[in-house]
Amino acid sequence: MLFETVVLLLPFTLSLARPPPIIDDASPPRATVYSGCKVNNTVALTFDDGPYIHMNNISDMLTNASAKGTFFVNGHNYDCIYDKKVAARVQYAYEQGHQIAAHTWSHPDLSSLNMTEMADEFTKINDALLKVLGIKTPFMRPPYGSYNNLVRQVAYQMNQSLVVWDLDSGDSVGATLQESEGNYTMAIASRPANILALNHETVKTTAASLVPFAINALQNAGYQLVTVADCLGLDAYSYQADQVGTWDKSWFCPEDEDGDDN
Ligand SMILES: *[C@@H]1O[C@H](CO)[C@@H](O)[C@H](O)[C@H]1NC(C)=O
Ligand SMILES: *[C@@H]1O[C@H](CO)[C@@H](O)[C@H](O)[C@H]1NC(C)=O
Ligand SMILES: *[C@@H]1O[C@H](CO)[C@@H](O)[C@H](O)[C@H]1NC(C)=O
Ligand SMILES: *[C@@H]1O[C@H](CO)[C@@H](O)[C@H](O)[C@H]1NC(C)=O
Ligand SMILES: *[C@@H]1O[C@H](CO)[C@@H](O)[C@H](O)[C@H]1NC(C)=O
Ligand SMILES: *[C@@H]1O[C@H](CO)[C@@H](O)[C@H](O)[C@H]1NC(C)=O
Ligand SMILES: [Zn+2]
Repeated sequence: MLFETVVLLLPFTLSLARPPPIIDDASPPRATVYSGCKVNNTVALTFDDGPYIHMNNISDMLTNASAKGTFFVNGHNYDCIYDKKVAARVQYAYEQGHQIAAHTWSHPDLSSLNMTEMADEFTKINDALLKVLGIKTPFMRPPYGSYNNLVRQVAYQMNQSLVVWDLDSGDSVGATLQESEGNYTMAIASRPANILALNHETVKTTAASLVPFAINALQNAGYQLVTVADCLGLDAYSYQADQVGTWDKSWFCPEDEDGDDN
């Protein structure tokens, strides 16, 4: 019996002695990075860094124009997403059919973080979106558009893709309103098949003037204003509860001393 076992195992043992095949195990799977839309004739207007005070107004302007937009929101950047009235803004835009996606908890440059810190930034905003909206988002935007392979690995583990852009309005890096409008005008003039545009919900002139300008210019040029998911031909959410969440005392930002500072 023992003898038989040894004989049977021998070829296997020999095969193990061969040099192992070269496997590039330095490359764990990484998230997809989208830097543009895929569906022709679409434009995805995106609004980062909220939820802040202009969210409802931008939502209304889009809705009034039969347009959809996408908000890449933080957990605690300008405002705390768990504050009752701040959560209400996110729910308002969501219920109008605009897409809500993740932009990290506190807006760090992810490529400067270690894996533990990075995972925390993903998990806390994903948890918040599950509580506030009852959703899981397959899309996240790294702050500053900054990512490395570790960011892509963590995003992959979170079942999320990265979304950057191919048109920057410049509204968060010092562009004047005229310069931002010029960016849209120049982009439209080059007749691209589609546009994935970066804007910031937190910039007053964006809410007051750039959004109505962009909606008008893009629609006059014949583009459909859709969500990022629709401009990619993908689903906006990987999970959606029947209804949004209801505020309770577990909704607070740990960075706030009293949990409801505004
Ligand atoms: C999308 O636009 C590109 C470039 O304008 C064109 O080559 C392609 O055929 C279009 N695709 C569809 C499905 O219309
Ligand atoms: C949206 O349209 C309604 C009805 O026309 C109007 O009262 C409201 O001011 C508009 N909102 C925005 C933000 O444009
Ligand atoms: C990640 O950074 C944090 C904070 O700087 C530190 O406490 C932690 O030990 C680091 N973790 C790893 C795995 O390096
Ligand atoms: C948008 O405008 C700003 C300021 O004028 C400029 O720095 C930026 O490069 C422009 N972006 C594009 C895509 O044209
Ligand atoms: C809200 O949107 C309207 C356009 O309908 C704009 O005129 C107004 O200035 C905006 N308000 C703020 C606070 O951005
Ligand atoms: C991951 O995301 C995809 C695309 O949204 C979705 O179809 C799938 O159900 C998700 N998987 C899990 C485990 O959440
Ligand atoms: Zn940002």
